[in-house]
Formats: sequence, C-alpha cells, structure tokens
Amino acid sequence: MLKVLAIVGSPRKGKNNDTLVDYMLKGIAYDKKRPVSIEKFYADKMHVASCKACEGCGRKKGCVLKDDMNSLYQKFDEADIVIISSPLYFNSVSSQLKAIIDRNQAIWSSKYILNDSLINKDKRRLGYFICTAGMPDEPNLFDATLPIMELFFKSINTIHEGNFFVPNVDQQPIMEDEAMLQKVHALGVELAKKAATL
Ligand SMILES: Cc1cc2nc3c(=O)[nH]c(=O)nc-3n(C[C@H](O)[C@H](O)[C@H](O)COP(=O)(O)O)c2cc1C
Repeated sequence: MLKVLAIVGSPRKGKNNDTLVDYMLKGIAYDKKRPVSIEKFYADKMHVASCKACEGCGRKKGCVLKDDMNSLYQKFDEADIVIISSPLYFNSVSSQLKAIIDRNQAIWSSKYILNDSLINKDKRRLGYFICTAGMPDEPNLFDATLPIMELFFKSINTIHEGNFFVPNVDQQPIMEDEAMLQKVHALGVELAKKAATL
C-alpha cells in the first residue's frame, strides 16, 4: 500500500493550491492496480503552534508542545510520498506551512543532538513541492522557497523529487487551466510509478 501525505499550505479551500494537490493525488491514485492510502491536510485548519525555541527537543525526543504536529511527525515517517503545496507569500511559503516546517526542529534535534531519530532515516520517500504565485512569471520568482523546501525534505529524509511552480494565478486561476491540471495529474501518475520502485 502506497502511503501518501499531502499538506495544502493555502488557507483557501477549493482554490489554486487545493486544486493542484487534488489533481496530483488523482494522478497518484490513477492506476487502480496499485492500492493507495491518501491523507490530505490543510495547514490552516491544523493546530500547529510556532516553535518556541525552548530547546526541549534537544533534551528529550519529540516536541514538548502538544498539538497536531505530534501526529504529523509520525505521518511524515510512514509516508512514501509527501506532497507539500503553498501559495507564494512575500516570496516565501505561507506562514501556516512555515509553522509546520519550523516544528521539524524536533526531528533535526532527534537526529543531530540526541542521535535517536524521530523518523526512520533508511526509509525511501519521495517529496514534491507545489507553489503558485499571483504575479506573472519573472526570473527567480520562486527561488526563495527552494532552500526552505530542500531543508524541509532533508529533515524528513525524503528525496525532493521536483517542484511544480505556477505563476500568474491571480490573473489566470488554475481551476480554469485544464492543460496545467493535466500536467500535474501526469506528474502524479509518474510519482506513483517511481515510488513503487523505491
Ligand atoms: C499575504 C499574501 C502575500 C502574497 N505575496 C505574493 C508574492 O510575494 N508574490 C506573488 O507573486 N504573489 C503573492 N501573493 C498572491 C498569492 O501567491 C496568490 O494569490 C496565491 O498563489 C493563490 O493561491 P491559492 O489560490 O491556493 O490561495 C500573495 C498573497 C497574499 C494573500
């Protein structure tokens, strides 16, 4: 069973990021011969407090804050495919998503301070990042998100398989762009095939 975890970083249900994630998930589940379990979460609806930098995770495995992040650590661990999406906010990822990313400090500490990893470092996982921007395309539009997502996928020992960047969604919503939706669907199909070979 292929386990897929998707997190939508936009607070807007049914809009660009949500729709792109849905199409990628449909692509992943396309081959009915391959059983898939999918969990999709909206960062905005999750209870995830900002990291308090208390350094508790450097003393004892896990995070001292008790909220939805505790189950997410486990879901990251168990997933074969992790899809993260975000609207571009001030050239970065949304604050809802960034709160989740920062809380992965507990995973970092478990590995590099406690030497007792919160997640299985040997498990092979594939990660994909989807990001939309309101502005028309320009060179380097999405660049600031890249080192953030590299580090995030590294924290959960996941191969950062690729990015799907869509500019100009404020003028041209993705919900009306069938060609783009088919493209992300096809990426999902390929992702599922690749994950099955890991
Ligand atoms: C707080 C905020 C900051 C934004 N900053 C940017 C930005 O820096 N660059 C850009 O191209 N679009 C920016 N936008 C537009 C969003 O990226 C765009 O509306 C979004 O990708 C739509 O995604 P959604 O429909 O999934 O919410 C911003 C929007 C908001 C609300």
